[in-house]
Amino acid sequence: MTDATAQLLDGKAIAAELRQQIKTQVEQRLADGLSAPGLAVILVGENAASQVYVRNKRKSCDEVGFVSKSIDLPIDTSQDTLLEQIDRLNADPEIHGILVQLPLPDHIDADIVIEHIHPDKDVDGFHPYNIGKLTLRMPRLQPCTPKGVMTMLAKTGQELAGLDAVIIGQSNIVGRPMALELLMARCTITVCHSKTKDLEAKVRNADIVVAAVGVPEFVPGAWIKPGAIVIDVGINRLDSGKLVGDVEFAGAAKNAAWITPVPGGVGPMTVATLLENTLLAAKLATDSGT
Ligand code: GUN
Repeated sequence: MTDATAQLLDGKAIAAELRQQIKTQVEQRLADGLSAPGLAVILVGENAASQVYVRNKRKSCDEVGFVSKSIDLPIDTSQDTLLEQIDRLNADPEIHGILVQLPLPDHIDADIVIEHIHPDKDVDGFHPYNIGKLTLRMPRLQPCTPKGVMTMLAKTGQELAGLDAVIIGQSNIVGRPMALELLMARCTITVCHSKTKDLEAKVRNADIVVAAVGVPEFVPGAWIKPGAIVIDVGINRLDSGKLVGDVEFAGAAKNAAWITPVPGGVGPMTVATLLENTLLAAKLATDSGT
């Protein structure tokens, strides 16, 4: 790729730096006589991808000195049993953050489960209270992937206000909160989805492209405007075993000013931001005297 012009937004390195800062703050908390932040990670069933993500989250907790509690429940766990488990964690002063790995089995209503987590322990930032706060420009606990993307965008040193941002994907986890974050940064937002007309024209005009569709190399590199910032949230395994994003990397890297690699881009930032949120949740608990 000798003709690539883009600079890499190295999520792995930025995440390592963030983890180091978190570790230092945990040490300071302990020196001040405060407790280590505690994160409970609940996994229902044995979804292979979820198992990998959960293992990563738990390992990262250990690295920065958090207390981590692993709760692995069988696939046939009832919704009520899961809600009772959350009640116990909501009341547990050693636990500052509760994460229920999604997707959940079909017999469990994820919306009910998310709303059952106390908003101050909702380190995923998915509770309607936290989404509402973000919508009103009063962020509290913010969804990890979009918040991690904003941390990466800050690393470019570029002024974001006034830029045209195109987000491909409208999920509750990424697309929608990403739009709220970029709007808060005073970008002009276009959220694209399967009913969007002339996606190509929209991407070609974008100063920032965030791709979160889950389709390998969905966005041709030739669509990327010269000098754009490309954030690839996708991680897709091809039949060959190779991991690729939602953007055709080699072509996009010729046009973009900045681009995230896959793997090693957004993924590590999501996990580091979860730790950041858990530390924030611990601070919220300290401040409220609980
Ligand atoms: N499944 C895929 N992404 C996420 C995430 O950010 N949080 C949770 N809880 N589950 C997920």
